[in-house]
Amino acid sequence: MPVILAIESSCDETSVAVSNNGKITANVIANQTIHENYGGVIPELASRVHQQNIVPAVNQALKDAGLRKSDLTAVAFTRGPGLLGSLLVGVSFAKSFALALGLPLIAVNHMQAHVLAHFIDEPRPEFPFLCLTVSGGHTQIVKVNDYFDMEIVGETLDDAAGEAFDKTAKILELPYPGGPLIDKWARSGNPEAFSFPEPQIPGLNFSFSGLKTAVLYFLRERVQADPVFIENNLADICASVQHRIVSILLNKVKKAAVQYGISQIAIAGGVSANSGLRTGLEEMAKKQGWKIFIPAFQYCTDNAGMIAIAAHHLYQKGEFVGQDTAPMARMEF
Ligand code: KG4
Ligand code: ZN
Repeated sequence: MPVILAIESSCDETSVAVSNNGKITANVIANQTIHENYGGVIPELASRVHQQNIVPAVNQALKDAGLRKSDLTAVAFTRGPGLLGSLLVGVSFAKSFALALGLPLIAVNHMQAHVLAHFIDEPRPEFPFLCLTVSGGHTQIVKVNDYFDMEIVGETLDDAAGEAFDKTAKILELPYPGGPLIDKWARSGNPEAFSFPEPQIPGLNFSFSGLKTAVLYFLRERVQADPVFIENNLADICASVQHRIVSILLNKVKKAAVQYGISQIAIAGGVSANSGLRTGLEEMAKKQGWKIFIPAFQYCTDNAGMIAIAAHHLYQKGEFVGQDTAPMARMEF
């Protein structure tokens, strides 16, 4: 009956969760709002804020779970991929905490954990399934054969889907992170108002850098002719860009489903919170006969709940790491 405290600090969210025998009983997420002032995450600031947030977040998680430190059986942390300075705070804290309490340590891959967020609540997918993992740093189609047997069958060649959202938002002078704001404006816009190109990339890979450039040139031209074009058309612009990002993603998922003969499709990562992607997936699932899995909002963007569930399954396999484990900015599956 493992009771695991899990720490996530790979980017700009300090999060601490508790898994009590595979049930997530706490998931504290401390957001770092300081980056809004800079239009993007400033790594040095992120690691400093993690240092301020981590102890209160651990205390809050234990309180939410109704536990004392002595009830814990293991400590888990995100090893990578992510910002090295941010990861270091979580890894160092986890190691010291485990050492002080005499507990074993579990190292988790952040991208695997995004996929494993589907095992927190019912309904849970059966193996094998396909997972579209879309975040600020990654865009991957993952063939999930087992908890820790995952293959990346398609990925972005340049920008991630989250970056496509955030960079478009920046052009539109919306604050960082712009993804959720584009989503909000898109709800009242016409997705077919403006047409942006879909890149013709062979196989299951993605490309988003051309879309960003197309949006930039389109807006430059329109604003030259009409200085208030953006203000007057914000909802339609957001809806049209979102529509194209979603169609790029879903067309590749459709291709992967056919190629692998798999009809259980999951989405994960921050962009899986996007309402256009969620409805687009539901519509495609009806047509294709897919069974789909969409995580609860609190398990889409970065959170320690997904680290805790991954750690629960690593615990079952007896996969522990030593005090010499270092964080990894880049980390394969
Ligand atoms: O998984 P995540 O929290 O962090 C990373 O590991 O990168 O993903 C963050 C990304 C950001 O690019 C953010 O703009 C995007 O997810 N995002 C969204 C939405 N919510 C978060 N993008 C579009 N629509 C949303 N509702
Ligand atoms: Zn993430």
